[in-house]
Amino acid sequence: MILITGGAGFIGSNFVLEWVGQSDEPIVNIDKLTYAGNLQNLSLLERNTQHIFVCADICNSDEMSKIFAHHQPRAVIHMAAESHVDRSIHGPEDFIQTNITGTFRLLETARHYWRSLPEELRLAFRFLHVSTDEVFGTLSADESAFTEKHCFRPNSPYSASKAASDCLVRAYHHTYGLPTLTTHCSNNYGAYQFPEKLIPLMITNALSGKPLPVYGDGQQIRDWLYVNDHCSAIRCVLEKGRPGETYNIGGRNEKLNLEIVHTICDILQREHPVNYDYRNLITYVADRPGHDRRYAVDSHKIHHELGWEPAETFATGIGKTVQWYLQNQEWCRNVQSGEYRKWVETNYIGRI
Ligand code: NAD
Ligand code: TYD
Repeated sequence: MILITGGAGFIGSNFVLEWVGQSDEPIVNIDKLTYAGNLQNLSLLERNTQHIFVCADICNSDEMSKIFAHHQPRAVIHMAAESHVDRSIHGPEDFIQTNITGTFRLLETARHYWRSLPEELRLAFRFLHVSTDEVFGTLSADESAFTEKHCFRPNSPYSASKAASDCLVRAYHHTYGLPTLTTHCSNNYGAYQFPEKLIPLMITNALSGKPLPVYGDGQQIRDWLYVNDHCSAIRCVLEKGRPGETYNIGGRNEKLNLEIVHTICDILQREHPVNYDYRNLITYVADRPGHDRRYAVDSHKIHHELGWEPAETFATGIGKTVQWYLQNQEWCRNVQSGEYRKWVETNYIGRI
């Protein structure tokens, strides 16, 4: 079986749902269920014994060792993390704990387990670490996209903590020979994304007639990767990636933030007209401190070495995403609970 961490979060739950749909192999899902973890994302699997959910913290070495010993995974997909840049600015401590200490403890557990395996299983074992393009820092408009060879220049507590975890993963391969794989993907979007990130925040605010808060001048650029394309890339790296290597995963969709917000408003205007004009909700607010201007990802390596490419364009992916949020408004209401409202106050009140 395979073991995933953070499988009740946005990307993790999409990965688990696809895995169960495409393979007979069981998947053990370790998740602490922070504000970002949501078992509702996996409600389709409630009676499915192929998915084994364990509520646990990756920082807890004893529990991790027991889970590894009991389930004997052939591979680990490590996605558990604190993942939101704005939260890392308001409170970096949890990011250091989960992203750095948690990754370290998980690596230690995996290393001891891996060493105890018979040779055939030891050779086949993989530890796949899911990281981000943000570790490479920021690009100006005319610089070429990040390749796997770019130096790490993280600018936020979030990206610094991810870069630190990447370094640990690298060291565990170099020093101990643990068969690691690391992926650096761009901004994901799609179903089940918590509405603190740009795209789901804009969709849910627009549907409630609330302001659409654009940071600074809205001219920052991100590359957007449809979450199911990301999941197919991870399966591809797990199956064919070379241990010790890192792979960039991009969506070939560089867009200005303002362009994204306009696109969402226009789709909603067409698909869900109301008695106000969605674009009139756009509100410019104070910029994010240390805001990275542009991310862009060069995915030639995964394309040429492993034959992966994204299936969705931004136009098809954003259409499906807006439809999902329109059809799952109860999910949205459920996650916009007390904790969510507290976060909205922390991040947005006083910013306009
Ligand atoms: P998410 O915040 O939606 O989910 C993270 C999950 O990890 C949650 O279910 C949470 O409960 C769990 N978790 C947090 N701390 C834990 C701990 N100590 N022990 C066990 N579980 C814990 O994140 P996501 O957007 O799904 O991102 C998944 C991974 O992909 C992260 O490593 C993130 O850095 C990376 N990534 C995400 C994006 C993106 O656009 N979302 C882009 C690049 C990289
Ligand atoms: P986000 O989804 O938080 O991802 P990241 O910071 O990891 O790229 O933000 C994407 C972009 O959208 C980023 O440039 C910040 C901007 N943004 C806004 O303009 N307003 C918002 O309310 C949010 C959450 C993000």
